Amino acid sequence: MSNQLIIEKGQQYVMNTYGRFPIAPVKGQGCYVWDADGKEYLDFLGGIAVCVLGHCDPRLQKVIQEQAARLWHISNLYWIEPQVELAEKLVKLSGLGKAFFCNSGAEANEAAIKLARKYFYRQQQTEKYQIISFKDSFHGRTLSTVAATGQEKYHEGFAPLPEGFLHARFNDIDSVKSLLNEHTAAIMVEPIQGEGGIHPAAPEFLKELRLICSQNDLLLIFDEVQCGMGRSGEVFAYQTYDVLPDIVTLAKGLGGGFPIGAMVASDRAASGFAPGDHASTFGGNPLATAVANQTVDIISRPAFLEQVQRMSHALQRELESINDQRIVSVRGRGLMLGVEFNQQVNELIKICMEKGLLLIGAGANVVRWVPPLIITDQELRQAMAIFTQALKEWK
Ligand SMILES: Cc1ncc(COP(=O)(O)O)c(C=O)c1O
Repeated sequence: MSNQLIIEKGQQYVMNTYGRFPIAPVKGQGCYVWDADGKEYLDFLGGIAVCVLGHCDPRLQKVIQEQAARLWHISNLYWIEPQVELAEKLVKLSGLGKAFFCNSGAEANEAAIKLARKYFYRQQQTEKYQIISFKDSFHGRTLSTVAATGQEKYHEGFAPLPEGFLHARFNDIDSVKSLLNEHTAAIMVEPIQGEGGIHPAAPEFLKELRLICSQNDLLLIFDEVQCGMGRSGEVFAYQTYDVLPDIVTLAKGLGGGFPIGAMVASDRAASGFAPGDHASTFGGNPLATAVANQTVDIISRPAFLEQVQRMSHALQRELESINDQRIVSVRGRGLMLGVEFNQQVNELIKICMEKGLLLIGAGANVVRWVPPLIITDQELRQAMAIFTQALKEWK
């Protein structure tokens, strides 16, 4: 099918939940994709921070093929070898105690919210059920994760939302303290806010959240669905801050493009769940966990993470050297950078796409840079050439 035909059929048959760009990529290799009409694009959004190893990595392909010939799905009624291996890896890398697997970021956060409530319930502290999260956060599209998300536009029309979610101001510890009360169970935060505009937490802010949680017997939940899995230059973004949460949630990059989510918790927090408390039919299935094992093996190598840091500095340098009066700031960590402009960026992103560079916004005024973690100097130069040319044509 051509781009046009795919789009026409899509408009007729696919539910209208996304504002989509008018192309249909059908093939990918490394950092490049091709649409149905054969046009090539340099993909610098990587499926929105998902394709950490680019498209169709041969090592992941091999694992999928081998596992597809062995066992796809069996059920969590039984022990699943690649799931157990992945849990061991994530536990050892994270410094936490136990892993639960699911299929998406929203589901991982939903699990974390349920675990926080059940943990206090088991201790007969049923009054502790509130979660403090943050303005401009994004935690997913299920009803509870929408309630946790601190952006009104995602709440509109879905009332009544589940109770027990309060929103403090990000990087403002006094605003957190003012919301603490006898019902507080947990604080949930993205160490680097993604959808809300690429806002890294201030190091002292995360340290103070840790202190507040330890002093008040609360659980600290880090949502690393977007900023985790090597994107920050460390496996977990919290390792760049030297602050350990009680629970961390993952998805996006974990499967290198294969759908999988995870919640990893300290042994203490994980003790909140007993058999029957939480489950997911597909969660941790052999195929997804086999791919995630390979992805985690690759992205956790010191040389890989050093290269992410090197490319992060290179990209940051390039973005900071752009001479355009409309740029307000360049910020972020690792290969999760944002360029904020003093106007909306939709049109700029469209121009980049027409010129063969795929990018995405974060909030109305920020261009988000979350490319595959394998970008090369040559790909970086090509992206910057297109971006600076697009800026010249952007009104
Ligand atoms: C920080 C964060 N949490 C949760 C989610 C939801 O993940 P999913 O779309 O896999 O449910 C996202 C998605 O963008 C995210 O960026």
